[in-house]
Amino acid sequence: MNGDGQQPIVSASNLRKKFAAPWGSGSAPVKAVDGVNIHVARGETLGLVGESGSGKSTLGRLLLRLLEPDTGSIVFEGSNLTRMSSWRLRRLRPRMQIVFQNPYSALNPRMRVHQIIGFNLSAARLSGVNRRARVAEVLKLVGLDRDILGRYPHQLSGGQAQRVGIARALVSSPTFLVADEPLSALDLSVQAEILNLFGDLQERLNLACLFISHNLQVVRHVAHRVAVMYEGRIVELGSRDAVYEDPLHPYTRLLLSAIPTGARSSDIAGARATRQRLKDELRELGPETDLREVRPGHSVALSSIRVDTPRPIALAQE
Ligand SMILES: Nc1ncnc2c1ncn2[C@@H]1O[C@H](COP(=O)(O)OP(=O)(O)OP(=O)(O)O)[C@@H](O)[C@H]1O
Ligand SMILES: [Mg+2]
Repeated sequence: MNGDGQQPIVSASNLRKKFAAPWGSGSAPVKAVDGVNIHVARGETLGLVGESGSGKSTLGRLLLRLLEPDTGSIVFEGSNLTRMSSWRLRRLRPRMQIVFQNPYSALNPRMRVHQIIGFNLSAARLSGVNRRARVAEVLKLVGLDRDILGRYPHQLSGGQAQRVGIARALVSSPTFLVADEPLSALDLSVQAEILNLFGDLQERLNLACLFISHNLQVVRHVAHRVAVMYEGRIVELGSRDAVYEDPLHPYTRLLLSAIPTGARSSDIAGARATRQRLKDELRELGPETDLREVRPGHSVALSSIRVDTPRPIALAQE
């Protein structure tokens, strides 16, 4: 059981993954994920935020074992994924799914929508009638009409294509879903619709969901807890309110301190000075420390907590 009394669906300990630096660069390997401990409980959305390159997608893929970790273990529904045979892993696949950023590149352009969604049912060995019924059911769940079943991906709008991507992930009734920047490739007007759909699905399906985004406003909308990732490590983890209202790590505070659009020039100057101080603080941080719970449900990777830097003045889109 975790601190919230909910059984974790997935939990990982001491996960590490390095990638070789580009050939000929002479650089050291990149520590994409560097000692992460994390869990996601049933019915919970854990938001994972951090800048580009901080390791979010690598962590999401490791948790699904789409990538092999160098070290560490992952337990999914009580079974150790890291030691599992590929045969057993294949049988578990329908229960852990992913929604990708770009729906068009994630959908096979030569398959019609009903084939795309139905494909993930092949392991379930349903009869044709039951398959069609399940596809129709999940189509309704994601708010699509049956008349798109015969279309190809290029005949769909961005919002429709992402709904198909979500339907494909949900058709096999997963218990764990990784959503990797599922809104970033969509028009602004469609983003809110898909975001609301995630909220809706979360409530109805009681999923464990890892929702990855560099957009802090988006994560605030859907997540129950938030993990902040910086250079391959989780540097802050807590309930949404704790992390947004009382961010403790300078990196979290930097992420939250985007200069507000339309602010007065005096506010802009103040925000810039705050950001500079936070950058200095981040540079001066001592040796890396483990996450430490500083109050119930709020952990931070700092050996001591400084409170002299003003709190972020506003949350604005980067
Ligand atoms: N297959 C790979 N081969 C080599 N390096 C990789 C590979 N995948 C990721 N990396 C490197 O690992 C680090 C983490 O990458 P990752 O894609 O996990 O970051 P991210 O937080 O998802 O970034 P973004 O917000 O841009 O999607 C980066 O330095 C990246 O260049
Ligand atoms: Mg990514």
